[in-house]
Parts: sequence; structure tokens; C-alpha cells
Amino acid sequence: MITTVVYTSNTGETEKYAKAFAEMVHLPCMDLKHSSDYAEGTSVLYFGWVFADHIQGYEKAQQRFHIPCVCGVGMSTAGTKDETIREAMKLDDNTVLFTLQGGLHMKQLKGMHKLILSVARKSSISSLESRQRTPQEEDDLLLWKEGGSRFDPSSLTPIVSWYEQYQAGVM
Ligand SMILES: Cc1cc2nc3c(=O)[nH]c(=O)nc-3n(C[C@H](O)[C@H](O)[C@H](O)COP(=O)(O)O)c2cc1C
Repeated sequence: MITTVVYTSNTGETEKYAKAFAEMVHLPCMDLKHSSDYAEGTSVLYFGWVFADHIQGYEKAQQRFHIPCVCGVGMSTAGTKDETIREAMKLDDNTVLFTLQGGLHMKQLKGMHKLILSVARKSSISSLESRQRTPQEEDDLLLWKEGGSRFDPSSLTPIVSWYEQYQAGVM
């Protein structure tokens, strides 16, 4: 049984998703930094922000908790980077992965994070501007240019469905 939601967030998007999910399924929700009170081996659903295709905090959380399901919050459209992230993180077949779209908040970034994303921002804008764009790419371009949040609680629906089946022992 999953008993807790644990998350790692940098600019707040992952925290919003983790808290919204926990509220939907009536579970407690805790920042990984403050989760030392939970017993080792507790089953948790983990949310982390995506940095270079890696879900932040996951390895650390995995050392203490049982994580049957992990959710990565990045800039990409929900579900479009699952294979890339699964491969980069070498997730085993027993671990379920969901991805969600967070946002971009340049002003909240500091140090290396800001530097890396400034470079990625410049090259993504120039690459997107140089070609024909799908409606989704049009929104990606807007997000890169203006920043903001794409937080959408309705994108948690498949995760809630998975969670309900898991808790009922269907999977
Ligand atoms: C240094 C850096 C690297 C990032 N790399 C990726 C990435 O590889 N894929 C992606 O989809 N988003 C990437 N992002 C975007 C963040 O995952 C996105 O802004 C997310 O909403 C952050 O969540 P948070 O608000 O909880 O910190 C990156 C952001 C930063 C600052």
C-alpha cells in the first residue's frame, strides 16, 4: 500500500502537482528534505522535477523508500519524454513512470541551473523559430519566451487511476 506522497521541487511546480495529487487521493504529502521521520521501506509515490532527463531526488528517495511509481515534472508536454527519461534513469520494468508539464520560472533560478537553462532557452527558441511549428510547439515556444506555469491538475487523472488500481491490488 502506498501511504505517502514525497516530492522534490525547485521552483514550485512539482510541489503543486504533489500536493494536488495527495489531496485527490487523501494521502499525506511531504518534501523529501523533511521526510526523515518516515520509516525506511515505506511505500511512497514520488514526484520530482526533471533536470537533463533525470528526476531529481529519486535516487536519494529510493535509498529509503519503496517507490512503485515515480512522476517527473518537466517543461515538456505530459507523456512525451517517458521513454527518454526511463532510459536515462535506467528505471526497472517494475517502476511505473508518469511525466507532467510544469513550467519555466527563470527569475527563480540561481547559479548553474540558471546558466544551463539560459543556454537551453536560447537554442530552443532559435530552433523552434526556424521551422514550421505544431500547435504544441507553438506553446513550447511561448513557454520558452515568456515563462510561466502549465500546471494542469487534470493531467493527474491517469496517475489517480493507476493509484486506485494499485491500492486495490489489481496490479
Ligand atoms: C537546469 C535545468 C535543467 C532542466 N532540464 C529539463 C529537461 O531535461 N527536461 C524537461 O522537460 N525539463 C527540464 N527542465 C525544466 C524543469 O524541469 C521545469 O521547469 C519544472 O517545471 C521544474 O519543476 P519545479 O518548479 O518543481 O522545480 C530543466 C530546468 C532546469 C533549471
